[in-house]
Amino acid sequence: MTSNTVNLAAWQLEPKGPITVKEADVTEPGPREIRVKVMAAPIQPAEAKQFYTQVMPRFKYPGILGSQCAGIVDAIGSDVKKVKVGDPVAAGLNNYANGGDPARASFQRYAIAEEYEVISIGQDLSFVNAVALNTQTPGAALFKVLGLDRPPVPPAKPETKGQKILIWGGSSAMGALSICYAKLAGYEVVTTCSPHNFDLVKDLGADHVFDRNDPDVASKVIEFLPIAFWHDTISLPESIKPITQIAAVQHEQTREDIKLLTLLPVTAQFSPGMPELPPFLKAQMHFFKNKAPENQEHVEWLMGKPEQPGFLEQGLKGGWIRGLPGKSMGGLEKVEEGIKMVNEGENSGFKVVIEPWKE
Ligand SMILES: NC(=O)c1ccc[n+]([C@@H]2O[C@H](COP(=O)([O-])OP(=O)(O)OC[C@H]3O[C@@H](n4cnc5c(N)ncnc54)[C@H](OP(=O)(O)O)[C@@H]3O)[C@@H](O)[C@H]2O)c1
Repeated sequence: MTSNTVNLAAWQLEPKGPITVKEADVTEPGPREIRVKVMAAPIQPAEAKQFYTQVMPRFKYPGILGSQCAGIVDAIGSDVKKVKVGDPVAAGLNNYANGGDPARASFQRYAIAEEYEVISIGQDLSFVNAVALNTQTPGAALFKVLGLDRPPVPPAKPETKGQKILIWGGSSAMGALSICYAKLAGYEVVTTCSPHNFDLVKDLGADHVFDRNDPDVASKVIEFLPIAFWHDTISLPESIKPITQIAAVQHEQTREDIKLLTLLPVTAQFSPGMPELPPFLKAQMHFFKNKAPENQEHVEWLMGKPEQPGFLEQGLKGGWIRGLPGKSMGGLEKVEEGIKMVNEGENSGFKVVIEPWKE
């Protein structure tokens, strides 16, 4: 990088305001930090929610959205051991965790990542597909919070566990990866999505797939009880209502409480129309603190250490972590259009991706 390098970013200058593409600082990486030349950044539901409804009240304006990227290591700070300049990488960024930090946002050409959030992706995976696959959420949800056994790494034919996991919303980005992970670990997967995504989720390994809009979806899933693990990647009234019906039948049979991991708060305050949950259905929203001491062993298993690639890096390089494909919208000028697509649910079966160096 030369001293006259210019960074361009997609700024949201004020809450509810439009996106404006203009210059941003090029920040020097600090100790154990990496500056990434951002080649691809996914538009996630979080960006749509912040853009339209300021779901993160601490987020500072003017701000740059985006918290995941893939690209090329452009500069490294002191003590970085995992990667070197020129390596292709994928990274989570602590933009939102820091209340909106423009240096750590992904809808721009250069972003700062912390070393532990960065993985090398090798030469074979496109940046657009890498950002659709690189997330810490499903790994933590399944193997740390829900307590499924971890899969063998590198993958081997897993021992069949003889237990089922219900993954509501198998064609969501989180659901698709969760199906892949559960199958790698030897579990039987029961899932839901729209019929046009049945082939997609079956190709990821789902064993039993049901139409989420079928009025009889609950009674069809009930045929597959008992379910050992319950994961709702949608976490809206439309998913909680049938899940509650299914859980009621299992509770009737076993008299045991059911732990349901959700990805959003399942309260009427957060989601108007959310029904009150029965006492036997214990919902827990996924909120994973990857810097907490009790989570370090899991984070190292998932993200790896210098000289010791973790589950994500091995799976992305080996091609055995699979999920939704990425679909590029184009450059930074397309951020607002992409956010609108995600907000309106026009991202069925793929991840919407921005390539900040495209004009
Ligand atoms: N707590 C956390 O740490 C965390 C982390 C990541 C994501 N999240 C949240 O988790 C949710 C899923 O994220 P994502 O990126 O996986 O979403 P996504 O890829 O945008 O999911 C979209 C798909 O979900 C399905 N869907 C949408 N509305 C539905 C409904 N009312 N009922 C059933 N299925 C529905 C649709 O599948 P079909 O087209 O097949 O119908 C749709 O294509 C988001 O709300 C996100 O904000 C939370």
